[in-house]
Amino acid sequence: MDFFDRQWSTYRRVVDADLMEHQALSAATTAAIEGWLASRPEGSSPPHMVDLGCGDLALLAPLLRRLPLGSYLGLDLSASVLPHAAAQLQGVPYPCAWREQDLLTWALEQSVSGDPGSTPARPVDLIHSSFAVHHLNTDEKLQFLSAVRHRLTPTGMLLWIDVFREPGESRDDYVARYIRRIHHGWQALAADEQQQVIDHLSSFDQPADAAAIQRTAEACGWRWQWLWRGRHRAEALAALTPVG
Ligand SMILES: C[S@@+](CC[C@H](N)C(=O)[O-])C[C@H]1O[C@@H](n2cnc3c(N)ncnc32)[C@H](O)[C@@H]1O
Repeated sequence: MDFFDRQWSTYRRVVDADLMEHQALSAATTAAIEGWLASRPEGSSPPHMVDLGCGDLALLAPLLRRLPLGSYLGLDLSASVLPHAAAQLQGVPYPCAWREQDLLTWALEQSVSGDPGSTPARPVDLIHSSFAVHHLNTDEKLQFLSAVRHRLTPTGMLLWIDVFREPGESRDDYVARYIRRIHHGWQALAADEQQQVIDHLSSFDQPADAAAIQRTAEACGWRWQWLWRGRHRAEALAALTPVG
C-alpha cells in the first residue's frame, strides 16, 4: 500500500470502529440537512451543495444519494480521493463535479475565473465540511468564515463537523488529551495505526477553541448553533446560517 492508501485505510478503521463517533454525527447531519430542506419555502429550486474536504464519501454517500439536490461539488486537497468519491455517487440524478483544491482557496473565490471583474461565482445553498477545516490555522479559519459567508445564498446553511478544543484549552493540552484517549480507548487499531493517527494529529491538527470560534463566526455575520457535541469534548457539529 502506498502512503495515501495506508493513511486512508487507518481512517476507515477509525470510522468503522466509531472511534470518533461518526455514527452519531451521521445521524445528526442527516437530521440537520433534512430539517433545513423541510424549512425551505415551497417551490424553492433544488439546492446546490458543496462539500469541502469530501474525502471518499464512504460515510455520506447513502444520504447524498437520496437528497433532492440541484448539483453537488466535491472538493478535496487530495486528488486521490476524488475517483473514490465519484464512484459513490455514480448514477445520481443531479450533476456532480469534482475538484482538487484547497477549501480556503475555494471560499475566497468570488468569481468564476478568479478574476474579480468576471462573472460572480454562483451562490451555493448548502455547504458541508467534515473534519477538514481544523487543518487551517487561526487566521485562515477567520478568513474562511468571513469569505465563505459570501459563497452562500441568504437562506443557505454551512454545516461544520470537526474537532474543537474546550474553551480556554491550549493546543498542547488538547493534543495530550487526545493522545491519552487513543492509548486508552482505541484498541480497535493496531499500535502502528494508533501511532499514525497520533503523528498526524500532532503535526497537522489545529482545532479551534469552541467558544472563541463561535464569537469569531458571529462577528463575521453568522448565527451559530451547536447541533451535536460528542462525549469526548472534541468532535462536534455546528450549523451556521447567515444573519440578515
Ligand atoms: C479526515 S478526512 C474527512 C473526509 C470526510 N469529509 C469524512 O468526514 O469522512 C479529511 C479530508 O479533508 C481533506 N482536506 C484536508 N485539508 C484540506 C484543505 N485545506 N482543503 C481541502 N481538503 C482538505 C483531506 O484530504 C481529507 O480527504
